[in-house]
Amino acid sequence: MKLFIISLTLFIYFVNFINSASDKPCLARRISGRSVICVCNCTYCDDITREMPANGSYVTYTTSEAGTRFQKIIGTFQTLDHSLGICRTSFVINPMKTYQAVEGFGGAVTDAAAINWKSLPEVMQKYLIDSYFSFKGLEYNMLRVPVGGCDFSTYPYAYNEQPENDPKLSNYSLTYEDYNYKIPMIKEISKVATSPVHIVASTWSPPIWMKTNHNFSGINQLKQEYFETYALYHYKFLEKYAAQGINIWAITTTNEPINGLFGYVKFNSLGWSVEKMGEWIVNNLGPMIRNSVFKNIKILTCDDQRFTIPLYFSELISKYPKALDYIDGIGVHFYADKIIPPVVLYAVSKTYPDKIILATEACQGSAPWQSEKVELGSWRRAISYITDILEDLNHNVAGWIDWNLCLNMEGGPNWAKNYADSAVIVNAEKNEFYKQPIFYAMGHFSKFIKRGSRRIEIREKKLCFTGSVKNVAFLTPDGTVVVVFLNEGSERSVSVKCGKKETILQLEANSITTMEFVCDAY
Ligand SMILES: *[C@@H]1O[C@H](CO)[C@@H](O)[C@H](O)[C@H]1NC(C)=O
Ligand SMILES: *[C@@H]1O[C@H](CO)[C@@H](O)[C@H](O)[C@H]1NC(C)=O
Ligand SMILES: *[C@@H]1O[C@H](CO)[C@@H](O)[C@H](O)[C@H]1NC(C)=O
Ligand SMILES: *[C@@H]1O[C@H](CO)[C@@H](O)[C@H](O)[C@H]1NC(C)=O
Repeated sequence: MKLFIISLTLFIYFVNFINSASDKPCLARRISGRSVICVCNCTYCDDITREMPANGSYVTYTTSEAGTRFQKIIGTFQTLDHSLGICRTSFVINPMKTYQAVEGFGGAVTDAAAINWKSLPEVMQKYLIDSYFSFKGLEYNMLRVPVGGCDFSTYPYAYNEQPENDPKLSNYSLTYEDYNYKIPMIKEISKVATSPVHIVASTWSPPIWMKTNHNFSGINQLKQEYFETYALYHYKFLEKYAAQGINIWAITTTNEPINGLFGYVKFNSLGWSVEKMGEWIVNNLGPMIRNSVFKNIKILTCDDQRFTIPLYFSELISKYPKALDYIDGIGVHFYADKIIPPVVLYAVSKTYPDKIILATEACQGSAPWQSEKVELGSWRRAISYITDILEDLNHNVAGWIDWNLCLNMEGGPNWAKNYADSAVIVNAEKNEFYKQPIFYAMGHFSKFIKRGSRRIEIREKKLCFTGSVKNVAFLTPDGTVVVVFLNEGSERSVSVKCGKKETILQLEANSITTMEFVCDAY
């Protein structure tokens, strides 16, 4: 008991709560039965700066179901007495054992996201972009942009719809949505981002004249005579965006190609069989991109749920080995992750370690059985993100891109009524936007695990049954160690050790904590 009191005193002595003047706290609005949302209006929006840890200190940031958001604490490493016999989980970090390098974190500039953003007064447009991308925000450094329309558009469309049967795409031009919504938003983002924004572009559907069923959705494939035209459709997009000063970093080989094969979605899709996609990559898309000024743009295949990796990656390269010369990796979506174990990702990362895996889409609320599309204040939905990001990162995923950066109160607009939740919900009528728990969940990774960080080994030693604390650790290019802990149980203390540095951390009940420090002697 005496020892316990001593260690408690030490804990209080060594830990300083920081009420840094530069950090504006969350203006919390509690949603009955749920967690809080943080309200931003014309005169106020919360922000957060990353505190570089001094030698001998660590910084932690905590977000909890109870309502803390990025609560910043600076603590000092201690010498722990291991004879205390206190039953706690301990973590040992080994920065010498490294895994994948990080590409980044981000969200999508869909028509819907950009329309909602634009619906806000200018000062709030700035708040929204700063919240996600600036040094006072989540410091996102990746985007996904649809090539033409997708379901999160106000109507279905593609480029060069007229004239029909036009293999050279003689009338390819960007749309009102590009010029008035997506491009201005991307430009504002680029102005404040703290590292170059890497943009992934994906086509949902080409113009319907290229498709077997002459429709944006339904069961369909690309007509054989337009294979080269569909490659050109991508090339021209790169050209048009480059002319606007926006460089695309990667393209995917069509969003969710399995949808159009079975026709089970009501929105823009293009179905691909494995054989036809392989043929298209090797004969059309690959050569066209690699023999152009855009030869360094990455090509990611799959861009679909985990269960399609054995098809659009493994089977594709076994049937078309030359595809490996063209593809840089895969994109993978979130929606089936609960039922498909993450080891399927190893088909890429373990067999072809030079290929990257990017999580390219995730959202909550879109499933038909989720009657509440926007669940304001949902902690459960934040947990589903955190759990998935931790699992992906621990299975060599290099980056993680959320779906729409913001949606309206209904979870749209979406022409196919495929409404969903978002990390930021815009209430244009009240001139407010709400940062959901999902927003902070993303930030616990994106703000600290900078591009070029490498995942490192972290081992959990349970001295007794205390339940698990999910975790991941990285060594950043700044030379700091970043650890993320998810505590899904009641409040508990854990110990963290790296080299000679050691400390006890108090993890709040139902919380996510990011810890950053320098581990010099290992
Ligand atoms: C924004 O919210 C703050 C805090 O609730 C409030 O004091 C302020 O009046 C609000 N501003 C506007 C323009 O509504
Ligand atoms: C941090 O402190 C340790 C112990 O005092 C020392 O060995 C190490 O060189 C210091 N590191 C830096 C980056 O100052
Ligand atoms: C070219 O596309 C525009 C729409 O972007 C359309 O209004 C026009 O009719 C098309 N031109 C031809 C020759 O089809
Ligand atoms: C596409 O299919 C849908 C559903 O069958 C139908 O309502 C729509 O009219 C079709 N669109 C075109 C352009 O044929």
